[in-house]
Amino acid sequence: MPAWWQGAVIYQVWPRSFQDSDGDGVGDLRGIARRLDHLRGLGIDAIWISPIYPSPLADFGYDVADHCDVDPAFGTLADFDALVAAAHDCGLRVLLDYVANHTADTHPWFAASRASRDDPRRDWYIWRDPGPDGGPPNNWASEFGGSAWTLDPATGQYFYHAYLPQQPDLNWRNPAVQDAMLDVLRFWLDRGVDGFRVDAVHHLFEDLELRDNPPDPDWRPGMSPARRLRRDRTMDQPEVQSAIAAMRRVSDGYPGQRLLIGEAWLPIDRLMAYYGVDLAGFHLPFNFHLITTPWTAAAVAGLVRRYEAALPQGAWPNWVLGNHDRSRVASRLGGPQARVAAMLLLTLRGTPTLYQGEELGLADVPIPPELVRDPWEQRVPGLGLGRDPVRTPIPWEDAPQSGFTSGTPWLPVGADHRPLHAAAQAHDPDSMLWLYRALLSLRRREPALSLGPIAAVEALGDVLRYIRTDPADGRRLLVALNLGDAEQALDGGGTPLLSTHGDFGNPRRLRPHEGLVIELD
Ligand code: NOJ
Repeated sequence: MPAWWQGAVIYQVWPRSFQDSDGDGVGDLRGIARRLDHLRGLGIDAIWISPIYPSPLADFGYDVADHCDVDPAFGTLADFDALVAAAHDCGLRVLLDYVANHTADTHPWFAASRASRDDPRRDWYIWRDPGPDGGPPNNWASEFGGSAWTLDPATGQYFYHAYLPQQPDLNWRNPAVQDAMLDVLRFWLDRGVDGFRVDAVHHLFEDLELRDNPPDPDWRPGMSPARRLRRDRTMDQPEVQSAIAAMRRVSDGYPGQRLLIGEAWLPIDRLMAYYGVDLAGFHLPFNFHLITTPWTAAAVAGLVRRYEAALPQGAWPNWVLGNHDRSRVASRLGGPQARVAAMLLLTLRGTPTLYQGEELGLADVPIPPELVRDPWEQRVPGLGLGRDPVRTPIPWEDAPQSGFTSGTPWLPVGADHRPLHAAAQAHDPDSMLWLYRALLSLRRREPALSLGPIAAVEALGDVLRYIRTDPADGRRLLVALNLGDAEQALDGGGTPLLSTHGDFGNPRRLRPHEGLVIELD
């Protein structure tokens, strides 16, 4: 019997911008509950909600001040319990974001840790003496620009932060930290959550000897300054595997197949280690490679073949087109190819994760400098690293602020997003929302597309093709995707089941930007 998450489609909710229920301009838990109908109608199986915990918002929730509560902007623990109950009632599972690598600098643990060198919590974070010149202990760089070390003048030592100075890294080598953080998992599992997406897990450990990171010869001006260095000493250190296994033991102690997804931006060969020895690690180490692979049939076919071939025995694949950190797929590929990409995502073997707004075909929203909120853009301006453009409010209906809020939204609703609101698309058979619904419903009807094996992955010019087979009755579905803007020949007779163009054209041709699912004779 496959686990529920193998046949599932996950949908990421970035709660600040999903739906506001109280007019403060910020989305909240009651807002999510109000939009469960949209999610059910879409046909997804689970939502992953980005951080909802109390936070001073230096990194918009990824700086957690209390792992076991809800930020008042999002509601209360009672609102959370009500959302979980309502989601479960309509057959949706709920996953939370588990921010394991760091806390907010306002977290009581860090307040104690920085209070004195003798505090029992001192060793809960990573403190080091200054380097010989009085500067940072080594050359490690923050992902968000600048040194990864910040001096705390009161105690004369530097603390390490893979991200912002307001996000000090926890010391996972300290067993007390591990215990406390595993208790966080138990807190939410006891409340009925169905699993977690584990944030930045590849950053959990750093080299104990504090060796410098080497320069990255592939860095070019215009790239993130942090990329000047390879992160050999600060990412993907061996100890991370036992920490992940410990998380897994906790979640496996609960009934109902709780799911663990790991966020690790790693090459395919390294990513596979995150399934763990004997698959005792993450159920799904996030596979982000579709985001970074050039959009050509040859490159994507090569990626699919490499990824499938690298999977450990019994490991289950997964695919992602976008999230709250990366330019939206409609901007990366353009509108017509975003439809092809949707068909790819929902017909590849493995669990897909959608990012809110992908189902509406939303593109990035340009944010003028005076409205920038993302600390990355503020610290490293002008390189296009800022994430505000992908985090703007969802347009729901033809109403002020597109129905997102009755107040002033914390980021503007995109002007180009207004006509794309969900209510309009719900009645338009040519819309992206219709295509997503059709794809999700086809996937549900056809176990070949969710659970069946994948074979014959090949590129023929601009056409990417593969075959999915129904594990029960052997029916074979051909997926043929035209990644180019010219018509292409299509051989192999069969019955078309779904086209990205809505209607079916000449059975022997693929129109420009067309994707087709065909049941082979
Ligand atoms: C990865 C998250 O997806 C991103 O939004 C965040 O800024 C960093 N981790 C730090 O938590």
